[in-house]
Amino acid sequence: MFRSLDSKLLKKSLLALGLGAALTLTGTAQAGQYGIGAKATPEEIAGWDIDIRPDGKGLPAGEGTVEAGEALYEQFCATCHGLFGEGEGRWPVLAGGQDTLTEERPTKTVGSYWPYASTLYDYIRRAMPFTAPRSLSDQQVYDITAYVLYLNEIIEEDFVLTKDNLASIKMPNEENFFVDPRPDVKNKRCMKNCADPKKLQIAGTLRGITPVGHFVEGADAPAASHDAQMEQEQHKEKVRKATLKGETLAAHGGSAKAALSEMATAGKSTYDGACKVCHGSGLTGSPKFGDADVWAPRIQKGMPTLVQNAIKGFTGDTGVMPPKGGRVDLSDKQVEEAVAYMVESSQ
Ligand code: HEC
Ligand code: HEC
Repeated sequence: MFRSLDSKLLKKSLLALGLGAALTLTGTAQAGQYGIGAKATPEEIAGWDIDIRPDGKGLPAGEGTVEAGEALYEQFCATCHGLFGEGEGRWPVLAGGQDTLTEERPTKTVGSYWPYASTLYDYIRRAMPFTAPRSLSDQQVYDITAYVLYLNEIIEEDFVLTKDNLASIKMPNEENFFVDPRPDVKNKRCMKNCADPKKLQIAGTLRGITPVGHFVEGADAPAASHDAQMEQEQHKEKVRKATLKGETLAAHGGSAKAALSEMATAGKSTYDGACKVCHGSGLTGSPKFGDADVWAPRIQKGMPTLVQNAIKGFTGDTGVMPPKGGRVDLSDKQVEEAVAYMVESSQ
Protein backbone atom coordinates (compact mmCIF):
# COMPACT_ATOMS: atom_id res chain seq x y z
CA MET A 1 0.00 0.00 0.00
CA PHE A 2 1.20 3.53 -0.75
CA ARG A 3 1.73 5.60 2.36
CA SER A 4 2.52 9.25 2.44
CA LEU A 5 5.67 9.84 4.40
CA ASP A 6 6.59 12.24 7.10
CA SER A 7 8.34 15.30 5.75
CA LYS A 8 11.77 14.42 7.16
CA LEU A 9 11.87 11.05 5.51
CA LEU A 10 10.33 12.43 2.33
CA LYS A 11 13.01 15.11 2.21
CA LYS A 12 15.67 12.45 2.61
CA SER A 13 14.33 10.38 -0.27
CA LEU A 14 13.91 13.44 -2.46
CA LEU A 15 17.44 14.55 -1.74
CA ALA A 16 18.67 11.09 -2.59
CA LEU A 17 16.91 11.49 -5.92
CA GLY A 18 18.36 14.97 -6.40
CA LEU A 19 14.90 16.48 -6.10
CA GLY A 20 15.59 18.79 -3.18
CA ALA A 21 14.50 21.77 -5.23
CA ALA A 22 11.16 20.19 -6.03
CA LEU A 23 10.51 19.89 -2.31
CA THR A 24 10.96 23.60 -1.69
CA LEU A 25 8.49 24.35 -4.43
CA THR A 26 5.78 21.93 -3.47
CA GLY A 27 6.12 22.16 0.30
CA THR A 28 5.40 19.27 2.62
CA ALA A 29 3.25 16.53 1.19
CA GLN A 30 -0.05 16.30 3.05
CA ALA A 31 -1.59 13.00 4.06
CA GLY A 32 -4.62 12.42 1.97
CA GLN A 33 -3.65 14.87 -0.75
CA TYR A 34 -4.37 12.24 -3.36
CA GLY A 35 -7.04 10.54 -1.35
CA ILE A 36 -4.91 7.48 -0.71
CA GLY A 37 -2.64 6.22 2.07
CA ALA A 38 -2.26 7.23 5.69
CA LYS A 39 0.32 9.33 7.48
CA ALA A 40 3.28 7.22 8.54
CA THR A 41 3.58 6.97 12.31
CA PRO A 42 6.80 7.98 14.10
CA GLU A 43 7.30 4.30 14.92
CA GLU A 44 7.07 3.34 11.26
CA ILE A 45 9.53 6.05 10.29
CA ALA A 46 11.91 5.04 13.06
CA GLY A 47 11.95 1.55 11.54
CA TRP A 48 13.37 2.88 8.31
CA ASP A 49 15.36 5.84 9.54
CA ILE A 50 18.28 3.92 11.03
CA ASP A 51 21.38 5.41 9.44
CA ILE A 52 24.14 6.68 11.72
CA ARG A 53 26.47 9.46 10.72
CA PRO A 54 30.19 9.68 11.51
CA ASP A 55 29.40 12.42 14.05
CA GLY A 56 27.17 9.98 15.93
CA LYS A 57 23.86 11.45 14.79
CA GLY A 58 21.27 8.70 14.67
CA LEU A 59 22.74 6.55 17.44
CA PRO A 60 20.13 5.16 19.81
CA ALA A 61 20.48 5.62 23.55
CA GLY A 62 22.57 2.96 25.24
CA GLU A 63 26.03 1.69 26.05
CA GLY A 64 27.97 -1.52 25.67
CA THR A 65 30.90 -3.40 27.15
CA VAL A 66 33.59 -5.59 25.68
CA GLU A 67 32.80 -8.34 28.17
CA ALA A 68 29.10 -8.58 27.28
CA GLY A 69 30.04 -8.28 23.61
CA GLU A 70 32.39 -11.24 23.75
CA ALA A 71 29.63 -13.66 24.74
CA LEU A 72 27.23 -12.31 22.14
CA TYR A 73 29.90 -12.33 19.42
CA GLU A 74 30.75 -15.96 20.14
CA GLN A 75 27.09 -16.86 19.96
CA PHE A 76 26.07 -14.90 16.85
CA CYS A 77 29.16 -14.07 14.83
CA ALA A 78 32.10 -16.39 15.46
CA THR A 79 30.85 -19.27 13.28
CA CYS A 80 31.48 -17.11 10.24
CA HIS A 81 33.91 -14.41 11.32
CA GLY A 82 36.09 -16.56 13.60
CA LEU A 83 36.61 -16.31 17.37
CA PHE A 84 39.13 -13.48 16.98
CA GLY A 85 37.70 -11.90 13.83
CA GLU A 86 40.15 -13.87 11.69
CA GLY A 87 37.33 -15.19 9.44
CA GLU A 88 36.34 -18.83 9.11
CA GLY A 89 36.97 -20.30 5.66
CA ARG A 90 36.14 -17.61 3.14
CA TRP A 91 33.87 -15.50 5.41
CA PRO A 92 35.05 -11.91 5.84
CA VAL A 93 37.94 -11.11 8.19
CA LEU A 94 36.96 -8.47 10.75
CA ALA A 95 40.22 -7.81 12.60
CA GLY A 96 43.91 -7.34 11.85
CA GLY A 97 45.37 -6.55 8.44
CA GLN A 98 47.14 -3.41 9.67
CA ASP A 99 49.78 -2.12 7.22
CA THR A 100 48.56 -4.36 4.39
CA LEU A 101 46.69 -1.69 2.42
CA THR A 102 49.57 -1.02 0.05
CA GLU A 103 50.09 -4.70 -0.66
CA GLU A 104 48.82 -6.31 -3.81
CA ARG A 105 46.18 -8.21 -1.82
CA PRO A 106 45.36 -6.00 1.15
CA THR A 107 43.43 -7.37 4.13
CA LYS A 108 40.70 -4.78 4.54
CA THR A 109 39.12 -5.03 7.98
CA VAL A 110 37.26 -2.82 10.40
CA GLY A 111 40.62 -1.95 11.97
CA SER A 112 42.80 -1.67 8.89
CA TYR A 113 40.38 0.04 6.55
CA TRP A 114 37.15 1.50 7.93
CA PRO A 115 37.25 5.27 8.49
CA TYR A 116 34.51 5.62 11.14
CA ALA A 117 33.32 3.60 14.12
CA SER A 118 29.75 4.75 13.42
CA THR A 119 29.73 2.58 10.30
CA LEU A 120 30.41 -0.48 12.42
CA TYR A 121 27.41 0.11 14.64
CA ASP A 122 25.26 0.93 11.63
CA TYR A 123 26.42 -2.11 9.65
CA ILE A 124 25.99 -4.66 12.42
CA ARG A 125 22.57 -3.30 13.36
CA ARG A 126 21.44 -3.15 9.73
CA ALA A 127 22.88 -6.35 8.28
CA MET A 128 24.26 -8.85 10.79
CA PRO A 129 24.07 -11.69 11.61
CA PHE A 130 24.03 -12.44 7.90
CA THR A 131 21.18 -14.93 8.20
CA ALA A 132 19.04 -12.81 10.56
CA PRO A 133 19.57 -9.08 9.96
CA ARG A 134 17.87 -6.65 12.38
CA SER A 135 17.38 -9.42 14.93
CA LEU A 136 19.71 -7.87 17.54
CA SER A 137 18.59 -5.25 20.04
CA ASP A 138 20.27 -1.82 20.04
CA GLN A 139 21.85 -2.81 23.35
CA GLN A 140 23.33 -6.01 21.91
CA VAL A 141 24.71 -4.04 18.96
CA TYR A 142 26.52 -1.70 21.38
CA ASP A 143 28.10 -4.66 23.16
CA ILE A 144 29.16 -6.42 19.96
CA THR A 145 30.47 -3.20 18.40
CA ALA A 146 32.63 -2.68 21.49
CA TYR A 147 33.95 -6.22 21.17
CA VAL A 148 34.84 -5.90 17.47
CA LEU A 149 36.65 -2.63 18.21
CA TYR A 150 38.49 -4.43 21.03
CA LEU A 151 39.46 -7.29 18.67
CA ASN A 152 41.04 -4.61 16.48
CA GLU A 153 42.92 -3.13 19.46
CA ILE A 154 41.13 0.17 19.01
CA ILE A 155 39.67 0.26 22.53
CA GLU A 156 40.83 -1.27 25.82
CA GLU A 157 39.14 -4.20 27.51
CA ASP A 158 37.42 -2.03 30.16
CA PHE A 159 36.17 0.64 27.77
CA VAL A 160 32.45 1.38 27.99
CA LEU A 161 31.10 2.34 24.61
CA THR A 162 28.28 4.90 24.76
CA LYS A 163 26.04 6.91 22.47
CA ASP A 164 28.15 9.93 23.37
CA ASN A 165 31.69 8.60 22.98
CA LEU A 166 31.31 6.38 19.93
CA ALA A 167 31.85 9.23 17.45
CA SER A 168 35.05 10.30 19.23
CA ILE A 169 36.75 6.96 18.58
CA LYS A 170 39.52 7.55 16.09
CA MET A 171 39.87 4.78 13.51
CA PRO A 172 43.47 4.08 12.40
CA ASN A 173 42.79 4.52 8.68
CA GLU A 174 40.55 7.60 8.82
CA GLU A 175 43.18 9.93 7.40
CA ASN A 176 43.49 7.92 4.21
CA PHE A 177 39.98 8.95 3.29
CA PHE A 178 40.09 12.50 1.97
CA VAL A 179 38.48 14.77 -0.57
CA ASP A 180 40.03 14.12 -3.97
CA PRO A 181 42.55 16.94 -4.47
CA ARG A 182 43.13 16.46 -8.18
CA PRO A 183 42.46 19.67 -10.10
CA ASP A 184 40.21 18.09 -12.72
CA VAL A 185 37.53 17.25 -10.20
CA LYS A 186 37.43 20.79 -8.82
CA ASN A 187 36.18 22.43 -11.97
CA LYS A 188 33.46 24.93 -11.24
CA ARG A 189 30.20 24.59 -13.06
CA CYS A 190 30.01 27.17 -15.83
CA MET A 191 26.68 28.71 -16.84
CA LYS A 192 27.72 31.65 -19.07
CA ASN A 193 30.80 32.88 -20.97
CA CYS A 194 32.17 29.37 -20.84
CA ALA A 195 35.15 28.02 -22.73
CA ASP A 196 34.54 27.22 -26.37
CA PRO A 197 34.13 23.42 -26.41
CA LYS A 198 35.96 23.30 -29.73
CA LYS A 199 39.07 24.58 -27.95
CA LEU A 200 38.91 21.96 -25.21
CA GLN A 201 41.21 19.05 -25.79
CA ILE A 202 42.71 16.05 -24.15
CA ALA A 203 46.16 17.23 -23.13
CA GLY A 204 47.51 13.81 -22.33
CA THR A 205 46.20 10.30 -22.03
CA LEU A 206 46.90 7.55 -19.55
CA ARG A 207 46.44 4.09 -20.95
CA GLY A 208 43.50 2.39 -19.30
CA ILE A 209 42.49 5.52 -17.38
CA THR A 210 41.72 8.35 -19.78
CA PRO A 211 38.49 7.66 -21.66
CA VAL A 212 39.42 7.39 -25.33
CA GLY A 213 36.10 6.01 -26.57
CA HIS A 214 36.17 8.38 -29.53
CA PHE A 215 39.54 7.07 -30.62
CA VAL A 216 39.92 4.11 -32.94
CA GLU A 217 40.18 0.88 -30.96
CA GLY A 218 43.71 -0.45 -30.63
CA ALA A 219 45.30 2.59 -32.25
CA ASP A 220 47.03 5.50 -30.56
CA ALA A 221 45.67 7.77 -33.26
CA PRO A 222 42.24 9.40 -33.00
CA ALA A 223 39.31 8.32 -35.12
CA ALA A 224 39.73 11.28 -37.44
CA SER A 225 42.83 9.63 -38.83
CA HIS A 226 41.00 6.52 -39.89
CA ASP A 227 41.47 7.35 -43.57
CA ALA A 228 45.12 8.08 -43.00
CA GLN A 229 45.45 4.69 -41.36
CA MET A 230 43.83 2.99 -44.31
CA GLU A 231 46.29 4.77 -46.59
CA GLN A 232 49.12 3.62 -44.40
CA GLU A 233 47.88 0.03 -44.50
CA GLN A 234 47.60 0.18 -48.27
CA HIS A 235 51.07 1.62 -48.47
CA LYS A 236 52.45 -1.16 -46.27
CA GLU A 237 50.71 -3.73 -48.43
CA LYS A 238 52.33 -2.20 -51.53
CA VAL A 239 55.73 -2.34 -49.87
CA ARG A 240 55.17 -5.96 -48.88
CA LYS A 241 54.22 -6.98 -52.41
CA ALA A 242 57.11 -5.00 -53.89
CA THR A 243 59.54 -6.64 -51.49
CA LEU A 244 58.21 -10.05 -52.46
CA LYS A 245 58.90 -9.27 -56.10
CA GLY A 246 62.37 -7.99 -55.24
CA GLU A 247 61.50 -4.51 -56.44
CA THR A 248 62.33 -1.31 -54.64
CA LEU A 249 59.69 0.99 -53.23
CA ALA A 250 60.88 3.91 -55.33
CA ALA A 251 59.68 2.12 -58.45
CA HIS A 252 56.13 2.40 -57.02
CA GLY A 253 56.43 6.11 -56.34
CA GLY A 254 56.88 5.63 -52.59
CA SER A 255 59.30 7.92 -50.82
CA ALA A 256 62.24 6.04 -49.37
CA LYS A 257 63.08 8.04 -46.23
CA ALA A 258 66.64 9.05 -45.50
CA ALA A 259 68.01 7.28 -42.43
CA LEU A 260 67.13 9.06 -39.19
CA SER A 261 69.74 10.67 -36.98
CA GLU A 262 70.55 9.06 -33.64
CA MET A 263 68.63 11.76 -31.80
CA ALA A 264 65.54 11.31 -33.98
CA THR A 265 65.64 7.52 -33.56
CA ALA A 266 65.75 7.99 -29.79
CA GLY A 267 62.65 10.22 -30.03
CA LYS A 268 60.37 7.69 -31.69
CA SER A 269 59.05 6.09 -28.51
CA THR A 270 58.37 9.47 -26.87
CA TYR A 271 56.56 10.56 -30.01
CA ASP A 272 54.49 7.38 -30.07
CA GLY A 273 53.55 7.67 -26.42
CA ALA A 274 53.02 11.42 -26.05
CA CYS A 275 52.72 13.24 -29.36
CA LYS A 276 51.18 10.88 -31.88
CA VAL A 277 47.76 11.18 -30.27
CA CYS A 278 47.53 14.65 -31.88
CA HIS A 279 50.30 14.84 -34.46
CA GLY A 280 49.58 11.40 -35.90
CA SER A 281 46.46 12.75 -37.56
CA GLY A 282 46.71 16.54 -37.25
CA LEU A 283 44.16 16.55 -34.42
CA THR A 284 43.24 19.99 -32.99
CA GLY A 285 45.22 21.76 -35.72
CA SER A 286 48.60 20.18 -35.00
CA PRO A 287 51.03 19.80 -37.91
CA LYS A 288 50.54 16.24 -39.10
CA PHE A 289 53.44 13.83 -38.83
CA GLY A 290 55.00 13.12 -42.25
CA ASP A 291 53.24 16.00 -44.02
CA ALA A 292 56.18 17.89 -45.53
CA ASP A 293 54.03 20.80 -46.73
CA VAL A 294 52.64 21.76 -43.34
CA TRP A 295 55.99 21.21 -41.62
CA ALA A 296 58.12 23.22 -44.09
CA PRO A 297 57.23 26.70 -42.73
CA ARG A 298 57.64 25.48 -39.18
CA ILE A 299 61.00 23.87 -39.86
CA GLN A 300 62.16 27.23 -41.15
CA LYS A 301 61.89 28.59 -37.59
CA GLY A 302 64.86 26.39 -36.73
CA MET A 303 65.19 23.50 -34.31
CA PRO A 304 65.87 25.57 -31.16
CA THR A 305 62.58 27.47 -31.57
CA LEU A 306 60.58 24.35 -32.32
CA VAL A 307 62.06 22.58 -29.32
CA GLN A 308 61.36 25.56 -27.04
CA ASN A 309 57.77 25.76 -28.32
CA ALA A 310 57.28 22.05 -27.75
CA ILE A 311 58.65 22.28 -24.18
CA LYS A 312 57.01 25.52 -23.09
CA GLY A 313 53.83 25.17 -25.12
CA PHE A 314 52.81 27.28 -28.07
CA THR A 315 49.67 28.91 -29.37
CA GLY A 316 49.90 29.60 -33.09
CA ASP A 317 47.46 30.14 -35.92
CA THR A 318 46.09 26.64 -36.01
CA GLY A 319 45.68 25.61 -32.37
CA VAL A 320 47.28 25.08 -28.99
CA MET A 321 50.35 22.97 -28.47
CA PRO A 322 50.27 22.17 -24.71
CA PRO A 323 53.62 22.26 -22.86
CA LYS A 324 55.32 18.92 -23.58
CA GLY A 325 52.10 17.76 -25.17
CA GLY A 326 50.54 17.64 -21.70
CA ARG A 327 53.15 15.19 -20.47
CA VAL A 328 55.00 17.22 -17.87
CA ASP A 329 56.73 14.04 -16.75
CA LEU A 330 58.89 14.09 -19.90
CA SER A 331 62.38 15.54 -19.67
CA ASP A 332 63.35 18.43 -21.97
CA LYS A 333 65.73 16.04 -23.72
CA GLN A 334 62.98 13.53 -24.48
CA VAL A 335 60.87 16.31 -26.00
CA GLU A 336 63.82 17.52 -28.06
CA GLU A 337 64.35 13.99 -29.38
CA ALA A 338 60.67 13.66 -30.25
CA VAL A 339 60.78 16.97 -32.15
CA ALA A 340 63.83 15.73 -34.06
CA TYR A 341 61.97 12.54 -34.93
CA MET A 342 58.93 14.50 -36.11
CA VAL A 343 60.94 17.03 -38.11
CA GLU A 344 63.21 14.49 -39.81
CA SER A 345 60.23 12.32 -40.70
CA SER A 346 58.30 15.24 -42.15
CA GLN A 347 60.71 16.64 -44.73
C1 HEC B 1 26.42 -16.80 8.32
C2 HEC B 1 27.66 -16.10 8.34
C3 HEC B 1 27.75 -14.78 9.09
C4 HEC B 1 27.42 -14.52 10.40
C5 HEC B 1 26.88 -15.47 11.42
C6 HEC B 1 27.76 -13.14 10.62
N1 HEC B 1 28.25 -12.58 9.49
FE1 HEC B 1 29.03 -10.74 9.32
N2 HEC B 1 29.32 -11.03 7.35
C7 HEC B 1 28.99 -12.18 6.67
C8 HEC B 1 29.14 -11.94 5.24
C9 HEC B 1 28.85 -12.93 4.14
C10 HEC B 1 29.55 -10.62 5.10
C11 HEC B 1 29.82 -9.85 3.80
C12 HEC B 1 28.50 -9.28 3.37
C13 HEC B 1 28.62 -8.43 2.13
O1 HEC B 1 29.73 -8.04 1.77
O2 HEC B 1 27.56 -8.14 1.57
C14 HEC B 1 29.70 -10.10 6.43
C15 HEC B 1 30.16 -8.83 6.72
C16 HEC B 1 30.34 -8.34 7.98
C17 HEC B 1 31.02 -7.11 8.29
C18 HEC B 1 31.65 -6.17 7.27
C19 HEC B 1 33.01 -6.69 6.91
C20 HEC B 1 33.74 -5.76 5.93
O3 HEC B 1 34.90 -5.41 6.18
O4 HEC B 1 33.14 -5.41 4.90
C21 HEC B 1 30.96 -6.95 9.63
C22 HEC B 1 31.53 -5.80 10.43
C23 HEC B 1 30.27 -8.09 10.16
N3 HEC B 1 29.92 -8.93 9.13
C24 HEC B 1 30.00 -8.28 11.49
C25 HEC B 1 29.25 -9.36 11.96
C26 HEC B 1 28.83 -9.49 13.32
C27 HEC B 1 29.16 -8.50 14.43
C28 HEC B 1 28.13 -10.65 13.41
C29 HEC B 1 27.42 -11.21 14.61
C30 HEC B 1 26.40 -10.35 15.15
C31 HEC B 1 28.14 -11.25 12.11
N4 HEC B 1 28.82 -10.43 11.24
C32 HEC B 1 27.59 -12.49 11.82
C33 HEC B 1 28.61 -13.38 7.23
C34 HEC B 1 28.24 -13.55 8.52
C1 HEC C 1 46.90 17.74 -27.55
C2 HEC C 1 47.48 17.72 -28.88
C3 HEC C 1 48.99 17.78 -28.98
C4 HEC C 1 49.91 16.93 -28.43
C5 HEC C 1 49.66 15.74 -27.52
C6 HEC C 1 51.18 17.36 -28.90
N1 HEC C 1 51.05 18.45 -29.71
FE1 HEC C 1 52.54 19.44 -30.65
N2 HEC C 1 51.20 20.72 -31.43
C7 HEC C 1 49.84 20.67 -31.24
C8 HEC C 1 49.21 21.74 -31.99
C9 HEC C 1 47.71 22.03 -32.03
C10 HEC C 1 50.24 22.45 -32.62
C11 HEC C 1 50.10 23.64 -33.56
C12 HEC C 1 50.03 24.93 -32.77
C13 HEC C 1 49.92 26.06 -33.74
O1 HEC C 1 50.87 26.26 -34.51
O2 HEC C 1 48.88 26.73 -33.73
C14 HEC C 1 51.47 21.77 -32.27
C15 HEC C 1 52.71 22.16 -32.70
C16 HEC C 1 53.88 21.49 -32.41
C17 HEC C 1 55.17 21.88 -32.91
C18 HEC C 1 55.46 23.03 -33.81
C19 HEC C 1 55.68 24.28 -33.00
C20 HEC C 1 55.94 25.47 -33.86
O3 HEC C 1 56.63 26.37 -33.34
O4 HEC C 1 55.45 25.54 -34.97
C21 HEC C 1 56.08 20.99 -32.40
C22 HEC C 1 57.58 20.98 -32.65
C23 HEC C 1 55.35 20.08 -31.59
N3 HEC C 1 54.01 20.40 -31.60
C24 HEC C 1 55.93 19.05 -30.89
C25 HEC C 1 55.22 18.17 -30.09
C26 HEC C 1 55.85 17.13 -29.35
C27 HEC C 1 57.32 16.83 -29.31
C28 HEC C 1 54.85 16.48 -28.70
C29 HEC C 1 54.99 15.30 -27.77
C30 HEC C 1 55.91 15.41 -26.67
C31 HEC C 1 53.60 17.13 -29.04
N4 HEC C 1 53.88 18.14 -29.88
C32 HEC C 1 52.35 16.74 -28.56
C33 HEC C 1 49.14 19.75 -30.50
C34 HEC C 1 49.72 18.72 -29.78
